[in-house]
Amino acid sequence: APHRPHAGGLAADVGSIVGGRRLRRNRRTDWSRRLVREVSLTVDDLIWPLFLTEGEGVAEDVPSMPGVQRFSVDGVVRQAEEAAKLGIPAVALFPNTDPSLRDDTGSEALNPDNLICRACRAITREGLPIGIITDVALDPYTSHGHDGLMQGEDILNDETVEQLVRQALLQADAGADVIAPSDMMDGRIGAIRSALDRSGHGDVQVMAYAAKYASAFYGPFRDAVGTNTTLVGDKRTYQMDPANSDEALREVELDLEEGADMVMIKPGMPYLDIIRRVKDTFLMPTYAYQVSGEYAMICAAGQNGWIDRDRAMMESLIAFKRAGTDGILTYFAPEVARRLAKAV
Ligand code: PBG
Repeated sequence: APHRPHAGGLAADVGSIVGGRRLRRNRRTDWSRRLVREVSLTVDDLIWPLFLTEGEGVAEDVPSMPGVQRFSVDGVVRQAEEAAKLGIPAVALFPNTDPSLRDDTGSEALNPDNLICRACRAITREGLPIGIITDVALDPYTSHGHDGLMQGEDILNDETVEQLVRQALLQADAGADVIAPSDMMDGRIGAIRSALDRSGHGDVQVMAYAAKYASAFYGPFRDAVGTNTTLVGDKRTYQMDPANSDEALREVELDLEEGADMVMIKPGMPYLDIIRRVKDTFLMPTYAYQVSGEYAMICAAGQNGWIDRDRAMMESLIAFKRAGTDGILTYFAPEVARRLAKAV
């Protein structure tokens, strides 16, 4: 039987049973909670994804992503300025290509004057202290909505990689600081890295969408870039099976061997275990993409009064930090940056 020196009250009993350790003591006051806090979220953790569309002076709502808009190039420049003002380190650009420019082979991806390239040049011209991240994949440009070149129902891996390399070089020429291949083809990181090096872009960083899952959480993004209605079939022959975790480590290992400077896991919230394993295994800069569907869920439940939207937003982001990320691509970025600035 346990020794009970102060037996008499229930509290004393509990105290002696657990050896005097009381974890709630540290949680009693705000200052103490701050003092024992293990991780924190700062503006340096945020990457802001921005959607582009043709025209001038255009800002159109994305219905499935409340508060998110597509901007024409002039508008995106202003958003980038806002990001810089808020101290957000980087923006990530995604185009909604005009349907008339989409074809079987995604040829618009290789137009040096496409939306992305024009936006890169326009933002670069401003000389802002922020990084420009561009997505490498063919889906915003193909009529079938897939990330690669198709032959029947198959994706042609190596032919696709050749085109991705050319897409990446055009983006780098236009001023992209970080090339982020999201296509999940085999071998693309190495091919892009060596092409960048050979063409005078040795300083351009590569952020690999290393473990990207075939996910239902990309739905609103596909609305935003206009691929929801066009996508034929699904992406399961190149994006990962949500059931797999060891395979994510193999994907990350290969991308690092091929020269990735940073790796990303995507989606975010349902894959925190992958983030932790990747961070612990490779000790490399590791990012998470809190994708469109995650954003939409928090906003929708908030709009219904079912959850406290702002608290859920902050909780979701601190969870990424706890899981080991060095940064989060999140549509909440500007709002969170403003909140963090106010809190100081
Ligand atoms: C396309 C791409 C997707 C996202 C980023 N790049 C969608 C897809 O693979 O279908 C999703 C981002 C989001 O849902 O917020 N290669």
